[in-house]
Amino acid sequence: MNGGRVLRLGVLGSGRGSNLEAIVHAIDEGRLPAALAAVLSDRPEARILELGRKSGARTGAIVPSEPRGPLGAGTEEEFVRVLREENVELVVLAGFMRIVGPVFLAAYPRRIINIHPSLLPKHRGSRAAAQALAAGDTVTGCTVHYVDEGVDTGEIIAQREVPVFPGDTAETLQARIQTAEHELLPAVIASFAGHE
Ligand code: GAR
Repeated sequence: MNGGRVLRLGVLGSGRGSNLEAIVHAIDEGRLPAALAAVLSDRPEARILELGRKSGARTGAIVPSEPRGPLGAGTEEEFVRVLREENVELVVLAGFMRIVGPVFLAAYPRRIINIHPSLLPKHRGSRAAAQALAAGDTVTGCTVHYVDEGVDTGEIIAQREVPVFPGDTAETLQARIQTAEHELLPAVIASFAGHE
């Protein structure tokens, strides 16, 4: 146990934010002793920011100069500055479609985790459900891992398996994987909260 203290979270995402919803839900239900301190994005129009605002977190978009790929050192410093201002202790990448670099990693050593929709080390990068279908997998899933300088290469923390059914499309499979993500990610964050 952690003596009643709550873990201050910073969640970064580029899209819909369904994993953020699952985290908020777990906090609200008392399953996750955490506080949502900040929700940040590289895309001002991302729905995840709207969800963050509704939850009372500090929100913001920090837009890198390059349209995709690495954040770049200046942008990383800006993300770190905001997260530190909010006393964030654990950074959760939930659909954050950018590569985190050395400035960010040095600021939060072993304190940045990512959710990925495959059983890593299989199917790194984007469109992992489509990759699983193309490979003919009968089982896939999701992984929470520590973030390092590679793309989906960091040490694995936990995984959940999901069946692939005949007739699945990338969309139906991704939806099934996401249901598993919504259980796995809050449970992993809770384990960090318990070890404070
Ligand atoms: C999630 O399925 C996550 O695993 C994936 O993006 C989705 C975001 O959904 N991440 C990656 O593919 C990273 N390589 P959400 O915005 O609804 O949480």
